Amino acid sequence: MSEEVDLRLERFPQKRLGVTLRVLTTDDVDAMFQLHRSPGVYEGLLTIPRKPDRAWSQECTEKLCESMTKGEGSLLLAEHDGEVVGSVGLGIKWKHGHGGLGYLLKESVRGKGIASCMLQMVLDHGFDDIGLNRIWADTFMDNEASRRLLIRNGFVHEGVKRQAYHKEDRYLDVDMWAMLVTDPRPWKEQQA
Ligand SMILES: CC(C)(COP(=O)(O)OP(=O)(O)OC[C@H]1O[C@@H](n2cnc3c(N)ncnc32)[C@H](O)[C@@H]1OP(=O)(O)O)[C@@H](O)C(=O)NCCC(=O)NCCS
Repeated sequence: MSEEVDLRLERFPQKRLGVTLRVLTTDDVDAMFQLHRSPGVYEGLLTIPRKPDRAWSQECTEKLCESMTKGEGSLLLAEHDGEVVGSVGLGIKWKHGHGGLGYLLKESVRGKGIASCMLQMVLDHGFDDIGLNRIWADTFMDNEASRRLLIRNGFVHEGVKRQAYHKEDRYLDVDMWAMLVTDPRPWKEQQA
């Protein structure tokens, strides 16, 4: 990995409001399997099968760890009360200074602000530690929880990408969201 593509993963683990974010390892297959099979995850994401098995989660974990070693992106796990409850990933295009987000939480811990907490940590990391200019997310139009999460944390709605992805024999529109390094980060204002 060259200096320009340093993911600065040594900054983790990090803790905010009882949520610890740490780097995924190949030992996390079982934790990833529990996350992948949580209700609503298949519906909210593009790449997770409807019924993932452990072998799929293992392959996915290994690929993500490998892509981290190549500097293509980071995958961080969120722990709360000693349990892995969520993940947040950043796929990075270094040439353009942007990172694409993917995140999910176990169903049992949704609605408590844990996703907001992990999102805030990864955004601060992406902008302040590794110098990204833009962090973006695409959400399916019916993903209300994800839409609320992004709005609550200061993302700007940039429009709708029509028929952007193919899933279950249908082309699906997605909402496009992004934050620039120069945009306000609401949690910083609250901390000030
Ligand atoms: C998208 C997802 C991560 C959002 O999780 P979440 O728990 O709703 O998000 P937050 O952590 O921000 O919690 C927000 C809720 O907790 C409540 N809350 C409680 N305490 C809070 C706090 N301290 N800070 C923020 N919100 C808090 C909020 O009022 C909010 O409830 P509301 O949405 O009914 O208004 C989750 O629904 C999920 O994993 N879905 C499946 C996978 C998926 O769709 N991923 C996204 C792909 S684009």
